[in-house]
Amino acid sequence: MPKTVVITGAGSGIGFACAEHLLSCGWCVALIDRDAAALEKARGALGHPQETLPFCLDVTDEAAVNEAIASAGKLGPVRGLINSAAIGADQSFEATSVESFRRILDVNVVGCFIVARAAIGPMRDAGGGAIVNLASVSGLRGNIGRTAYGASKGAIVTMTQVMAVELAAANIRVNAIAPGPIETAMVRVMHTPEARENWMSRVPQRRYGESHEIARAAAFLLDEEQSGYVTGHVLAVDGGFLAGGLLPQ
Ligand SMILES: NC(=O)c1ccc[n+]([C@@H]2O[C@H](COP(=O)([O-])OP(=O)(O)OC[C@H]3O[C@@H](n4cnc5c(N)ncnc54)[C@H](O)[C@@H]3O)[C@@H](O)[C@H]2O)c1
Repeated sequence: MPKTVVITGAGSGIGFACAEHLLSCGWCVALIDRDAAALEKARGALGHPQETLPFCLDVTDEAAVNEAIASAGKLGPVRGLINSAAIGADQSFEATSVESFRRILDVNVVGCFIVARAAIGPMRDAGGGAIVNLASVSGLRGNIGRTAYGASKGAIVTMTQVMAVELAAANIRVNAIAPGPIETAMVRVMHTPEARENWMSRVPQRRYGESHEIARAAAFLLDEEQSGYVTGHVLAVDGGFLAGGLLPQ
């Protein structure tokens, strides 16, 4: 029976690219997104109706998440999870409202926690699995405008490490990917032309990444044969951003 990966945020950007690539690798994919239209469009574009199931829900809705993860098993045993759903904002520390801070932490951190915790039972029953959480370089550096978003991604890094330690005995590996700037809908909203110039001056490879470059890294981290001894790791896929200090002008 083919194994199933649950992907949150599958209606757009990195989540969609992960769905596309993992289907081509032989996985069945449970697609989660709160945007019904994006989800329907994504499922149509993926073109594997037998190997996909859509779930329109908000990752902060615990009951809906539990129900969806239980139903995802109809495709095949749940052996993988990619937590890609998130929201962002480009706001200075002083301009960040408490409401905005709470909402970003709720979706990005608590949502990831809710989905991952729901997936643990089915993965354990299936003999193990792998989880990939989308962090960010903004969770590892003090990037301008990233008070709430950066804090949420820093939390993802630590939560990934704790999960890796606690779930190793259940044969569940947990890793994070820290993307640099990737051309997606989120970035089109968050990056002004000035911000783009700023990023380009800091990324040694002098370009934005593509969603499929993150999808391939996620597929590696899900694949027991290729990364069976990798857990608790934060993989930067960032064109060298985190390695950088002074760059050639
Ligand atoms: N694009 C980048 O440059 C970049 C860089 C670093 C990290 N990331 C991370 O990668 C992940 C994917 O980002 P992206 O650029 O593809 O974003 P995106 O905005 O293109 O896609 C995110 C998807 O998540 C869904 N979503 C948002 N909130 C949700 C919720 N509460 N419940 C269910 N679905 C929800 C949205 O509807 C959307 O379809 C995020 O975790 C993001 O923080 C992205």
